Amino acid sequence: MLAACTPEAPGALPPSSGSPSASPSLSPSPITTTEATTAAPAPPEPSPTPSPSSALPRQFSLTNPASPWLIVNKRRPLVPADYVPADLVQPAVASTVSGEAAMLNSTTAAAAEEMFEAAARDGVAMVLASGYRSYGTQVATYNGYVASRGQADADTASARPGYSEHQTGWAFDIADGGGVCSFQPCFADQPAAVWAKANGHRFGFVVRYPWMLHPLTGYYYEPWHLRYIGVEAATDMSKRGINTLEEYFGVGAAPGYP
Ligand code: DAL
Ligand code: ZN
Repeated sequence: MLAACTPEAPGALPPSSGSPSASPSLSPSPITTTEATTAAPAPPEPSPTPSPSSALPRQFSLTNPASPWLIVNKRRPLVPADYVPADLVQPAVASTVSGEAAMLNSTTAAAAEEMFEAAARDGVAMVLASGYRSYGTQVATYNGYVASRGQADADTASARPGYSEHQTGWAFDIADGGGVCSFQPCFADQPAAVWAKANGHRFGFVVRYPWMLHPLTGYYYEPWHLRYIGVEAATDMSKRGINTLEEYFGVGAAPGYP
């Protein structure tokens, strides 16, 4: 099995998700940051990056891989490409994976532990299905997709090496307790996905690749892929009905690689 956060079968993509009519605009007003209009890759910088005009009390870098507000997408590669988080740990949560795939950065791990416990209290079984992936692992993962699906299709589901949130430790994939519909579109209707979509922001998480917003994010719907950005920002996004980091931080759409 491909250790990725994507459907394994080409037919697993949502039937309408490739519709050319899906052209969401970037209309929601982004929060103001010092990098709000920077679409091109930039070198890492210290975080936090204060911005007195921001709607939120705390500001963080959008380019430093160690920042919870890092935006990595098809237009914003990781710098350095072979970045390795300094604080990888294994969260104390149920997991279907082991080794590096069971690890997250320490902040995300702590938030995941809280979220999984809260889900369990609500009767929802959630498991970690794919966490950290090194650059080398992403090479193997992406190449596997290209080999089985071709590059164009692979690019709708798997990030190229140096472009994956999984390499930062800020993102992970979840599965349902019973493993139903893992990495398939029908996972969106499973209790773990429904719960995470409704409650993830309370713990700092967003569903990073929402339904029909691939013209902005570059990837089809991944109801299993959660990204930590902090409780304040995730809750603000939820309250304002903004669904992508590209819109929220005003960095521009990333439908494809330059
Ligand atoms: N499936 C996501 C986009 C990744 O490979 O990081
Ligand atoms: Zn993922």
